[in-house]
Amino acid sequence: MRNLIDVTDLSVAEIDELIATAEDMIAEPDKYAQVCRGKQLATLFFEPSTRTRLSFESAMLSLGGSVLGFSEANSSSTAKGETVGDTVHTVSCYVDIVAMRHPKEGAPYAAAQYSEVPIINAGDGGHNHPTQTLTDLLTIHREKGRLDNLTVGFCGDLKFGRTVHSLVNALSRQKGINFVFISPEELKMPAYIKENTLDKNGLSYEETASLEEAMPKLDILYMTRVQKERFFNEADYIRLKDTYVLDPEKLETAKKDLCILHPLPRVNEISIAVDSDPRACYWKQVKNGKFIRMALIMKLLELQL
Ligand code: CP
Repeated sequence: MRNLIDVTDLSVAEIDELIATAEDMIAEPDKYAQVCRGKQLATLFFEPSTRTRLSFESAMLSLGGSVLGFSEANSSSTAKGETVGDTVHTVSCYVDIVAMRHPKEGAPYAAAQYSEVPIINAGDGGHNHPTQTLTDLLTIHREKGRLDNLTVGFCGDLKFGRTVHSLVNALSRQKGINFVFISPEELKMPAYIKENTLDKNGLSYEETASLEEAMPKLDILYMTRVQKERFFNEADYIRLKDTYVLDPEKLETAKKDLCILHPLPRVNEISIAVDSDPRACYWKQVKNGKFIRMALIMKLLELQL
């Protein structure tokens, strides 16, 4: 039985296979409509979500399976003091696979020790978000035709943004990636990622506070929200939240084939006026999220067409 806790739980070859399957699902969704008939997915969300939870549910329904779960901890026996381990153990007695989000880093890994079925990390605190990364990789592949030899700028809250941590991890296994980390001093990429993922593998990166300076060289611009819920004090959040606001003027120096991504939700960091720019790929990214999760569910349940 396999879980997906960290994106590196999948080999590069397996991710390529998932992308190929998702591409086929996008082209011919009807072929997959009965693959999960009789199978059940539980979505256990101890933290708010729109895209991840609903795309998992839509994915399972589109595969012919069914879904159950909760979208806030207070509607489960967690409110009575039940441990995450006992909750997940219980639910794993009813379903075939579990997607779980939790505010505590490492909670899905801990929960997996108690589960009788595969566990998918749907986001754990400021740590990781591997299925968002699969979504991002599928989108980059569809837009650029490759995952290697790209200059990728990550902009915003690189300290608490779990999606950037997972994506840096995944891209560090590709050849020729130039990482450009754009953030204020207080929200820089954590040292553990720079040391363990980049330095240890001899990968170089650039750090800057200036989006304007970085813009002309980027193939991918990965914008992120400042993660209000992870701040210890509101004054710091208010001071930092609008550090970067991407607007049409800032895009004037960007490449014509720049691909703008954002895991969403967005607050104020991408102006609505950017949505109609052909380089804005974040709504395509939302759609792709469902298909890559369909491919992942099939893989972890060891189902074939
Ligand atoms: N990208 C993402 O994780 O969005 P949600 O928080 O809405 O699931």
